[in-house]
Amino acid sequence: PGLATYDPGFVNTASCRSAVTFIDGDKGILEYRGYPIEQLAEKSTFLEVAYLLIHGELPTKEQYESWVHEITYHTFVHENVKEFVQGFRYDAHPMGMLMASVGALSTFYPEAVNISDPDNRHMQMVRMIAKMPTLGAWSFRHAQGKPFIYPDNALSYTENFLSMLFKMSEPKYGADPRLAKALDVLLILHADHEQNCSTNAVRSVGSSQVDPYSAVAAGIGALYGPLHGGANEAVLRMLKRIGSKENIPAFIEGVKNGDERLMGFGHRVYKNYDPRATIIKKACDDVFEVTGVNPLLEIAQELEKIALEDEYFVQRKLYPNVDFYSGLIYEALQFPPEMFTVLFAIGRTPGWLAQWNELITDSDQKIARPKQIYTGARTLDFVPAEERW
Ligand code: CMC
Repeated sequence: PGLATYDPGFVNTASCRSAVTFIDGDKGILEYRGYPIEQLAEKSTFLEVAYLLIHGELPTKEQYESWVHEITYHTFVHENVKEFVQGFRYDAHPMGMLMASVGALSTFYPEAVNISDPDNRHMQMVRMIAKMPTLGAWSFRHAQGKPFIYPDNALSYTENFLSMLFKMSEPKYGADPRLAKALDVLLILHADHEQNCSTNAVRSVGSSQVDPYSAVAAGIGALYGPLHGGANEAVLRMLKRIGSKENIPAFIEGVKNGDERLMGFGHRVYKNYDPRATIIKKACDDVFEVTGVNPLLEIAQELEKIALEDEYFVQRKLYPNVDFYSGLIYEALQFPPEMFTVLFAIGRTPGWLAQWNELITDSDQKIARPKQIYTGARTLDFVPAEERW
């Protein structure tokens, strides 16, 4: 009390204790509940990882089956939510629609406010993980002026998401199991990342003891920003703008002169290669086997090569992050750039919820209320408008 440490962006301030995710940014290590991300991406599924993040340990066979069953049977949303999504302008950004519709769910489940009841918390977490792909897919269909496709509970989580996005007759690839697997891996890679901006937003808003839909809607708002989840969309626009390998040196000069940032590079925590970027590069190969190579891949690879050898990036320890290659996969899967961050949000949902659940059950936690260093004027005498003008 009485003391304030000036730490913009919480660069040196721990806001909580957490047992969910471990990162060693210097060594490029990421673990969920102690399990290395590389093993989870290779051998697990997104729903198993979601269980692990929220419950703290891997499920038994019975626990897993019951978890998948619960999530599968909560994928539908109330028809009024559908009308709510349909009410947006045709050109509304899907992240705006997702943020609003997740916030709106709080009015459909008013009991969600009973956050001290573990069964109730469990129910809302299941609902949110289950409904996020439905809302994400419908935001996509709305922006394309296409009719909404209802969930198909006979499919896996990721296949169902793909089937709600693309009618089987529409796409070139449909819900190809190799694409569903690659998307599942991408969701795993995005599932949690300790106290990033959006998770901090969920915790901060959640600390007021509001319902989890409102807290997660705040997280979606934070993720929407170009320095956070919006970076994957910005990467693709950047690659398109660069256009060809010959233009890369001039672009890099512009970045070094401070004209703009090399999107998809740099990270607050990783001062080494982001382990997720390594796994994504491999997923790129699997996806491009089905879809053919995205021509922007060549530009991205060359850009990475030049940047990794350039003194500016070396000195500042700027390496490719998770967003550098993910957009290329999403584009190959026929997603427009404005949908990329929605995919990130679907993946991050279990992480937000695991962190929210940890916050609610941690007796140390208080309402988030940072200090400030006041720099404004003091004790001025107010002069009424008629005397000032
Ligand atoms: N391009 C060019 N220069 C950069 C970049 C970049 N992408 N990132 C950082 N720098 C420079 C920055 O200008 C500064 O230089 P100087 O010391 O000369 O002023 C130095 O590196 C340190 O940068 P910072 O802004 O203090 O670093 P930060 O930890 O606050 O920012 C970051 C981290 C991710 C916001 C930043 O690296 C960035 O803007 N990257 C581009 C956007 C991006 O890819 N975001 C996705 C992050 S990963 C997924 C996610 O978390 O959502």
